[in-house]
Amino acid sequence: MPKSDVVIVGSGLAALVAASRLCMEKNVIIFTKLTINNSNSMLAQGGVAAAFAENDSWNSHFEDTVNAGCHHNDETAVRTLVQYGPHFIREFIEKGMIFDKDSLGNIQLGQEGAHSNRRILHAGGDATGKALIQFFKQKLSTNVQMIEQEFAVDLMIHEGRCIGVKTVNQQGQIIDYYANHVILATGGCGGLYEHSSNDETVVGDGYAMAFRAGAELVDMEFVQFHPTLLYVNGRCPGLISEAVRGEGAILVTKNGRRIMEGVHPLLDLAPRDIVSRAIYEEVRNGETVYLDITMIENFTTRFPTITDLCEKNGVSITEGKIPIVPGAHFMMGGIRVNENSQSSIPGLYAVGEAACTGVHGANRLASNSLLEGIVFSNLMADYILQTEDRPIEMTSLSTSRASLYSRNLPTKSFIQKTMMNAVGIVRKKEELEKVVKVFEPYVYHGPSIHPSNQEQIELLNMVTTAWLIASSALEREESRGGHFRLDFPETILSFEKKRITQVLKKQAVVN
Ligand code: SIN
Repeated sequence: MPKSDVVIVGSGLAALVAASRLCMEKNVIIFTKLTINNSNSMLAQGGVAAAFAENDSWNSHFEDTVNAGCHHNDETAVRTLVQYGPHFIREFIEKGMIFDKDSLGNIQLGQEGAHSNRRILHAGGDATGKALIQFFKQKLSTNVQMIEQEFAVDLMIHEGRCIGVKTVNQQGQIIDYYANHVILATGGCGGLYEHSSNDETVVGDGYAMAFRAGAELVDMEFVQFHPTLLYVNGRCPGLISEAVRGEGAILVTKNGRRIMEGVHPLLDLAPRDIVSRAIYEEVRNGETVYLDITMIENFTTRFPTITDLCEKNGVSITEGKIPIVPGAHFMMGGIRVNENSQSSIPGLYAVGEAACTGVHGANRLASNSLLEGIVFSNLMADYILQTEDRPIEMTSLSTSRASLYSRNLPTKSFIQKTMMNAVGIVRKKEELEKVVKVFEPYVYHGPSIHPSNQEQIELLNMVTTAWLIASSALEREESRGGHFRLDFPETILSFEKKRITQVLKKQAVVN
């Protein structure tokens, strides 16, 4: 029976940061259900936020984070994020990570929505996530075994402790891997929605696995929609980074009307939830919304990935208008963890988007997600490395849980359309009730899964996570950040007044 000190499920930035630290002293196995290149981190364009500029401070980054998060954030965790962030980033730079620099050799800092300062470090123009993944891949020692195309299907729990994971390999064999520490770094669940910026593999597997094992999940109603996904022939083939608006691009209708005028003092760089709702309203009224990029000089060199994406999809950069719609981008909630990334189940940890550290509140500040992965994975590694290991428990678990799940699950497309229409940017009580009712029977009929059919397990994971989001959205009777209830519009207004007051105060200080 295979065993190792640490098992990590997922291969994005949070996973690789953890593995690169842990492998100095421990054996690590990383499972990824497709390839190491399939993760949201790999697609991250914008960058990593950190207070690097001389006129910036962690305090200002803190204020912007809780302001964007509608004060739903865990302030202690936010302080950890913004104070440790620059420290860890400097450490990678010393070890050879290269961020983009200006002609004087200084790190170039980009601007994104709801930040009161330029503080986004980027690499390869708009390929920051890819550069970071490549950097950390090189830091893995031979103590790390990377197993691709093997799907982790269930956590093994014995006497209240997580003792490993059950996987299914390409041949359909079920394998039990035992470990002292099991880390879920499975990313979020954008793939539950019809329009999404996420990698196709990211459909909420980690949340569903944790839920079946009895771990605590929190804030699942807070789903962030990114305002600008490229929109071509009814499809969203990729993201147009917020950094594009940071360099001056504006949101306009076909006739050139600026849609953010009169909506928020930060205009096109308002918090994402505000911009996404404004676009949603325009589209609902029959408008097509574009990003006007005509004012950005050197667009193709500053944004090579986006240029390539547009060209591959028949959108001309020289014409200067990119058609966009909002799409599911990031889950603020997730598996509840403490400052060491420990979940409510001993032996089980979560990092990156799979975890809810509380830093993002009700709406994540742009470019804080790679930062979260970097900071909290490092702190978790410190904790694990300082903890005395128990002997690995190799108790053989009863297989009765793995009985055949025989219900005919809804299709992927049904789940995605239902989530987009009823549990998306704008939500209503009656529709949420209907969705909960439709998905609930699948969840309760199936904590036990037959792990030889990957498609069936993925659908079960999707329906479980979709149900978790819909039922949490039904329970939260207010509108806040990424969770907007049409039947509670007044609460968002009170958060908005607070956010706008903060923004104006900061602008007064800057000017
Ligand atoms: C973007 O580049 O707009 C995405 C960055 C992020 O989600 O933080």
